[in-house]
Amino acid sequence: MTVEIHLAENLEFLRGIPDGSFELIYIDPPFNTGHAQSRKRLKTTRVDEGGDRTGFGGKRYVTEVLGELAYADQFDDYIEFLAPRLIEAKRVLVDTGSLFVHIDPREVHYVKVFLDGLMGRESFMNEIVWSYDYGARSRKRWSSKHDTILWYAKDPKRYTFRFDAIDRIPYMAPKLVGAEKAARGKTPTDVWWNTIVSPTGKERTGYPTQKPLSVISRIVEVHSNPGERVLDFFAGSGTTGVAAAGAGRSAVLVDSNPGAVGVMRERLGGGSTAKPPAADARASKSASTTDTPPA
Ligand SMILES: C[S@@+](CC[C@H](N)C(=O)[O-])C[C@H]1O[C@@H](n2cnc3c(N)ncnc32)[C@H](O)[C@@H]1O
Repeated sequence: MTVEIHLAENLEFLRGIPDGSFELIYIDPPFNTGHAQSRKRLKTTRVDEGGDRTGFGGKRYVTEVLGELAYADQFDDYIEFLAPRLIEAKRVLVDTGSLFVHIDPREVHYVKVFLDGLMGRESFMNEIVWSYDYGARSRKRWSSKHDTILWYAKDPKRYTFRFDAIDRIPYMAPKLVGAEKAARGKTPTDVWWNTIVSPTGKERTGYPTQKPLSVISRIVEVHSNPGERVLDFFAGSGTTGVAAAGAGRSAVLVDSNPGAVGVMRERLGGGSTAKPPAADARASKSASTTDTPPA
């Protein structure tokens, strides 16, 4: 299995990919928030005196800014930006392939209307709500704590849905279902409760808007088969590549931000290239590939 990391503007890159090259596409485009998405990378060192932060138990720390990872997130016409990329996404999917588009509540309706037209309304399979319930709460309206993931099957009669590969979650009232069922757990619905990437946990890369591995792994495990190819052309920190490698799938990851590519290389190993996969994308093994799964 290989994971390719490409530093490239994705529309140009997509145009270089042959038809029907991927079984699964997951994308998490910028959400058009109107401001740059950025995250400072900090190092904190414990000191006996002074410092600029107080931590657990009143201990003092000095904070050093190691750098900042950022990307632009403002588009005059969001759909005009996304549409040509979605058209290419449909083209590079195999006939039994699935497209997952991860978006926030402000843009999802426009994207859904466009995708219904592009893929066909019958190809719309699910609106998955990822609910995370983390962070500050608004006192002026209901706190917005979810993203939406739209699933389209290129052919709604032939697609991959590996029911037995779905991870199980606990019942809310296990006593009502009996010991055996409670021990097995239940399959999730289209509402996925999953916390965000912990700001202090090992999974965190420091890349802004990094998505949880557990959310993307569920998509990869259920909607592709071992050995198949997954594409993410808004790859950011490379979560899709980590999910694919962990599940025995190959992945092609594309991002136009050198900061993202740096994080992906650190996370996944391997080099980067600005070239699209070779003419026969299925057979291609470019210099950027690595078959070493992440640690
Ligand atoms: C929301 S982030 C993706 C985060 C990712 N899912 C993760 O878990 O880290 C969107 C990414 O799209 C990239 N991007 C935006 N416009 C792009 C373009 N035209 N071509 C390639 N990448 C682009 C940005 O640099 C950013 O890294």
